Amino acid sequence: MDWGMRNRLSQLIQRDGRALFLPIDHGYFQGPTHKLEKPGETVKPLLPYADAIMLTRGVLRNCIDPTNTKPIILRVSGGTSMVGEDLSNEGITTSVKEAIRLNASAVSMSIFIGSRHEHQTLINLARLVDECEEYGIPVMAVTAVGRELEKREARYLALCCRIAAELGARVVKTYYCREGFEKVVEGCPVPVVIAGGPKVESEMEVFEFVHAAIEKGAIGVNLGRNVWQSDYPVAMIRSIRAIIHENYTAKEAHDLFVQIKEGKA
Ligand code: R5P
Repeated sequence: MDWGMRNRLSQLIQRDGRALFLPIDHGYFQGPTHKLEKPGETVKPLLPYADAIMLTRGVLRNCIDPTNTKPIILRVSGGTSMVGEDLSNEGITTSVKEAIRLNASAVSMSIFIGSRHEHQTLINLARLVDECEEYGIPVMAVTAVGRELEKREARYLALCCRIAAELGARVVKTYYCREGFEKVVEGCPVPVVIAGGPKVESEMEVFEFVHAAIEKGAIGVNLGRNVWQSDYPVAMIRSIRAIIHENYTAKEAHDLFVQIKEGKA
């Protein structure tokens, strides 16, 4: 692996081998998502606790202070919307030259396996990897499920992660699943991070699935809504960080959450 690639990857994956990515890219197909109406304000108090932020060039340029930020994972796929016909019909929306100009540490894009546009999104990934490898830029593949949240089960996720890695992704983002998540990780020769998906009922649920994912081999998270849609986003990200980088259990993370919420930590 060349120096630039190793250097960029080390900006994302910390010395302990773990990573906490904070995605705020949801507007690229959802528009002004709840609690992300002003992404710059949402992210400001959370930045100190994130290892990297994931976002589009539009939000990066307009809402993030270039003199005070964290490593950037630039989303470079899109071209669809919540009200359009098919979320899987994505193309590449941002050039590699632009990613370099914006000093991205990585780029990311979605693949939609099993969808009408599977082939197109996989070829997009392969071509993006070809181009990015020339410049030492890691590609993080996002195994997207669109509206079909029920697809989040081990056999499907394992298939997606493996294919993403085979096509050259350096990191793969997927979802946690209760049954067989270890098989998803084992079948994927590159590091795996998990998304959170739509906001769940309780904080404890988030701490439990983050902890379980790490136990079963994920290196960390790329987790958005369950952090910034919380009433206590700083407490959420700090507690998740403790699981990822300080090996807290879910219960310990929850105790920390309560302490931070009550202003005691
Ligand atoms: C989807 O819109 C994005 O790719 C997100 O970055 C990803 O789904 C992670 O965010 P969340 O934890 O909110 O699902």
